Amino acid sequence: MTGAEVRSVLASGTVLGRTILDSIGETPLLELPRLASAIGLPSGTRLLAKAEQLNPGGSVKDRLALTLIEDAERSGLEPGGTVVEATSGNTGISLAQAAAVRGYRLIVVASTKVSQEKIRILRALGAQVHVTPNVPHGNPNHYTEVAKRLAAATPGAVYLDQFHSTANVRVHEEHTGPELLEQARQLAGRLDAFVCGVGTGGTFVGVATYLRRASPRTKVVLADPSGSVLAGGGQFRSYLVEGIGDDAPPPLFDPALVDESVVISDRDSFRFALLAARTEGLLIGGSSGNHLAAAAEVALRLPAGSVVGTIFPDTGRNYLSKFFDPEWCAANGLAGLHEDGGR
Ligand SMILES: Cc1ncc(COP(=O)(O)O)c(C=O)c1O
Repeated sequence: MTGAEVRSVLASGTVLGRTILDSIGETPLLELPRLASAIGLPSGTRLLAKAEQLNPGGSVKDRLALTLIEDAERSGLEPGGTVVEATSGNTGISLAQAAAVRGYRLIVVASTKVSQEKIRILRALGAQVHVTPNVPHGNPNHYTEVAKRLAAATPGAVYLDQFHSTANVRVHEEHTGPELLEQARQLAGRLDAFVCGVGTGGTFVGVATYLRRASPRTKVVLADPSGSVLAGGGQFRSYLVEGIGDDAPPPLFDPALVDESVVISDRDSFRFALLAARTEGLLIGGSSGNHLAAAAEVALRLPAGSVVGTIFPDTGRNYLSKFFDPEWCAANGLAGLHEDGGR
């Protein structure tokens, strides 16, 4: 690049940021042709994924964190004060980034299901982390209950409560959804289906609400881990995928937005994450693998030439000691997963 070209890129503002928080959002929409071909999708059918793992904190939750903190500031968070949050790890990491920049102390509560990688990143970013047992809603040791108690016991602390915050839907309705639709239109002319799971429901509800308005023809598909009850199926059974599904619908979830549900096993979620690594060079998490497996199922059912979009919520770097490790897989009932390269 010549000096003039470098100056013109810098002048466009796209690579300038005053803090790490300025590089959140506007993530790429990736096309996955090698993966589509490896799983036998008809030629012309297009699989697209919004690469939220490329946010600086490694997940879609970066979009939410600053908004949660700014809402807390409006409702009385004092400079240098303490914020408390219950999280499956990623919201905590995003908050830790934002809290460092804005000068707040962060207390995070996460269950033992959360990977050690996420816990270590949280501590590295200066968060105080409390780990609770992995128990169902209603149990006083559930991570949300512990977070509420810690916030109440800490003078001046604010419990951010992503599970009830309208900001959690708003950021995705105002940013993630419009970005996704515009990128899909530029890349493929349209979006036939949008496939996404529900943790708090912020991403799913925000994007789906926007699509209902801006692209009513787009079919909205809920991707749910096998064992979760959100797709409407029976008794809760614990499962290994982190961040999506639950033993009860979260408060922000709106089942009226769901046109169709697809249930995906742990094995298929992790198999698709491995396949994305080995066919497209993408290191994505287990919920991304779950989304991808569900998107593939939808794409196989739609007419050839359809355009199916999904979200990659977080990076595979969060799970190197879990499903990316063959020994962990063997110890968790997933023997052989790595041997066929995810195929
Ligand atoms: C890895 C991962 N995937 C998906 C989600 C779900 O996102 P949302 O809370 O917006 O439903 C989360 C949320 O914590 C997550 O951590």
